[in-house]
Amino acid sequence: APIKTPDVSTCKDSTTGFTNLKDHIRSNACCPPSSENPIKDYVIPTDAVLRTRPVAHRVTEEYKAKYQKAMAAMRALPDEHPHSFAAQAKIHCAYCNGGYFQDGFPTKELQIHNSWLFYPFHRWYLYFFEKILGTLIDDPTFALPYWNWDNPSGMSMPGFFEGKYLPNADPTVRVPNAAFDAFRNVDHLPPAIVNMDFRNSASGGYTCVQQIGSNLTLMYKQMVANSPNAETFFGGEFRAGDDPIDMQHSTGPIESGVHTAVHAWVGNNRMPNNEDMGNFYSAGWDPLFYTHHANVDRTWKLWKDMQGPDYPDHTEPTDPDWLNASYVFYDENQELVRVYNKDCVQIENLRYEYEPSPLPWLGSRP
Ligand code: C2O
Repeated sequence: APIKTPDVSTCKDSTTGFTNLKDHIRSNACCPPSSENPIKDYVIPTDAVLRTRPVAHRVTEEYKAKYQKAMAAMRALPDEHPHSFAAQAKIHCAYCNGGYFQDGFPTKELQIHNSWLFYPFHRWYLYFFEKILGTLIDDPTFALPYWNWDNPSGMSMPGFFEGKYLPNADPTVRVPNAAFDAFRNVDHLPPAIVNMDFRNSASGGYTCVQQIGSNLTLMYKQMVANSPNAETFFGGEFRAGDDPIDMQHSTGPIESGVHTAVHAWVGNNRMPNNEDMGNFYSAGWDPLFYTHHANVDRTWKLWKDMQGPDYPDHTEPTDPDWLNASYVFYDENQELVRVYNKDCVQIENLRYEYEPSPLPWLGSRP
């Protein structure tokens, strides 16, 4: 049977009793606000205007201003509000650090990583995060920027996430940068180039040209050589009643590869748990998380679009337990809604797309 999420009112805040996390700096980090209202099935608006997710490194000043306005509005909401930044950040902890249990299996934690739930869960998470930001600034075209780390021109942190305050002509007026997060590895701020093998290779030693070459080769491996079909690309099966611990061996190549490396590379290694990006429980507290995951989500679309004789099996899983797996989110109208994997397979239906960017790794077969 497919994974089904429980009533969110049963959430357990694992940060209050963590045994595996020492001195976590984020507390009450795991439970989004609950609701008395029954959960409804989400109806995707089909007439929504198309949202184009831009490359974070190329965004215009106008886009940056819009992004700042939306993120500042989200940060200004009280934590109990389902659209607040805290409430959004907690979703990640709830689904990844034992906040939720599987419906019908009161002792089995829900874990949406390390399996075929990884891509669809994060697609829905970003979908609502983006729709909420658009609603907060009353702009239905608002789209999240994506961190184009698979392209050499995007291999450092996008600049506008850096800096506690926005650049301002009048230095006596300090406007906080809503994209900033204090818990990042300061040695990895721009112009440092991301190491896509961060956890595996001894850090340093590469010139930037070598680092870029290594990253492109890893992209090729993860997107092409190691991802010939749905079983490999999406990761292992995870069904109702399965134990998440057993799943760890079957993580998809992008999830276990560049996705995790970028998390670990951004997180602050001087913090007890590599906060924020370096740990599931705290990752959602860094705005860069959503821009990193926009590119992870884009890899699904890129993989799906690679068709022809070289890629005969680039199609999504057809197993009903994948198609009917579901999650619960607050939608842009603050309603608690249930969404299904099968409904997020076509991003056209979700009314967003990615601004095109060249794919130099396609020619980087090792
Ligand atoms: Cu839910 Cu990047 O992890």
